Amino acid sequence: MEELDILLKQIDPERLPRHVAMIMDGNGRWAKSRGMERSEGHSEGVVSVRRVTELSSDLGIGYLTLYAFSTENWNRPDAEVETLMYLIGWAIERELPDLLRNNVKIRLIGDIGRIPEGPRHKLLNAEASTAHCTGLQLLMCLSYSSRWELTRAARLLAARAKAGELDPDSISEADIEASMATAGVPDPDLLIRTGGECRISNFLLWQIAYSELYFTPTLWPDFDKKEYAKAILDYQHRERRFGKTSEQVTSK
Ligand code: IPE
Ligand code: IPE
Ligand code: MG
Repeated sequence: MEELDILLKQIDPERLPRHVAMIMDGNGRWAKSRGMERSEGHSEGVVSVRRVTELSSDLGIGYLTLYAFSTENWNRPDAEVETLMYLIGWAIERELPDLLRNNVKIRLIGDIGRIPEGPRHKLLNAEASTAHCTGLQLLMCLSYSSRWELTRAARLLAARAKAGELDPDSISEADIEASMATAGVPDPDLLIRTGGECRISNFLLWQIAYSELYFTPTLWPDFDKKEYAKAILDYQHRERRFGKTSEQVTSK
């Protein structure tokens, strides 16, 4: 049996994460270690995106959130930003037929208005074209940062309060959740970061309050289905207590 099949067989289908989020890091180092341009690492990273989308879909995971470009990534050299934007537009356009075939629904998360018109148009087209899909929901975080999202949420809530639609004293966690770019999406159960850094880099700070964190040194272009299966298996061995005692969560 293939190593992937052996791993997949060990996954308990009853205890799958409902929502997996990924910080796709390490493209530049992957390319550099091969004497290539950083952009070649980003191109190779698209292949990993395809693999994790496919496996999430096959396993029946409900939501996959991918951190593709952060607010802070706008500060990279112009040429790299330009290449990344071009690549994102090209990749989404190329993948669209397969996404539709696999019933994958795209949702864009972030300050999409900052993305140059060409790729933005392709992204919005993919979102609109897959709006009817009922399978995996693929949340693409682009020009996203958690502080951008939280600032926006504060503005939305303040505007509602000012308009007399919301009593400030009654603002609840549910109101905040509903003001997030991810409104309506359950919080990630599992957050995976590739590339060896053990940090969050301004990603989903509100939503990952109780997520299980998985850090791997594997660089994003090397993150294959086997690596993903290993992360899910690791997750399935964790005990999620949500503040309770172990006895409380294990007693039926
Ligand atoms: C992640 O890879 C992709 C983006 C942030 C867009 P990096 O480009 O950060 O790769 P490293 O971390 O420099 O290796
Ligand atoms: C995080 O990667 C953002 C994305 C994967 C899109 P970075 O490479 O930008 O993170 P830092 O700067 O090393 O924290
Ligand atoms: Mg990086």
